[in-house]
Amino acid sequence: MRFVHLTDPHLTPLTGRWPPGWPSKRWLSWLSWQRRRRHLHVRERLDALIEAAREHAPDAWALTGDLCQTGTAEEIEVATRWLEQLAPAERILLTPGNHDVFGADSRRRVDLRWARWLHGPIDRVAVRRFGPATLIAVDSAVVTRVGSAAGRIGARARDRLGAALRDARGTFRVVLIHHPPAPGLCKRRKALADDAELADLLAREGAGLVLHGHLHHDRRHDLTAVDGSTIPLLCTASASAPDASARLIDVDADQTGFRVRMRSLRHDAMSGEETWLSAG
Ligand SMILES: [Fe+2]
Ligand SMILES: [Fe+2]
Repeated sequence: MRFVHLTDPHLTPLTGRWPPGWPSKRWLSWLSWQRRRRHLHVRERLDALIEAAREHAPDAWALTGDLCQTGTAEEIEVATRWLEQLAPAERILLTPGNHDVFGADSRRRVDLRWARWLHGPIDRVAVRRFGPATLIAVDSAVVTRVGSAAGRIGARARDRLGAALRDARGTFRVVLIHHPPAPGLCKRRKALADDAELADLLAREGAGLVLHGHLHHDRRHDLTAVDGSTIPLLCTASASAPDASARLIDVDADQTGFRVRMRSLRHDAMSGEETWLSAG
């Protein structure tokens, strides 16, 4: 089974007009987009990366959010059309980011328009099986105040995640989440409010791999599970930034467990091949 992890494309352009309403979180983000971020997130880079990934004929696409900038109705429509042409819906599992669930109006629209790719999340956890692997997407995006890019899963969704991890034992379990899933990986104002609880849960239940976004660069942090196994926590770079990358991951099962091969894909090259055995 082969899948691609792609995150933080920030692909929706903003218009040259000030957003309506009083100065707000959307105004500040609009300013930041016009001054800085539109030069950073380049659509051509994203398109080239997608083409490079397509050449490897992945079985699935794992997307961990921040397709938008400010989660307006127009942006969510642009992202919806992009998702529709990426791959058949059953091959995509998506979890949103803080820039998708940006305002009070965004949550409802994301749930409505992206339901096909969120695969009917129950308590913000969506599960999808691909051969020997189970992809489990956990939604960490919440509407935040100005200056905050934090996330939260909440007790109910953590319980659901625990149940999903137990149900998927015997397969290679991949957790997808937008925010870093353990404390100390980013500033508190950008962090998951319940990252310590999530890290405890992952250590207790085990997982083969956790893939996340939000940090915009390739990062690796290892979590030690209570059974002594290592759970790699991997952030992939923004898919449209100057160091844009995607991860190409192959999972094969044998009698002893799973062989995982991971490569870092750029639009014109492949690098950083890593292979390891995992109990899943
Ligand atoms: Fe982002
Ligand atoms: Fe983010």
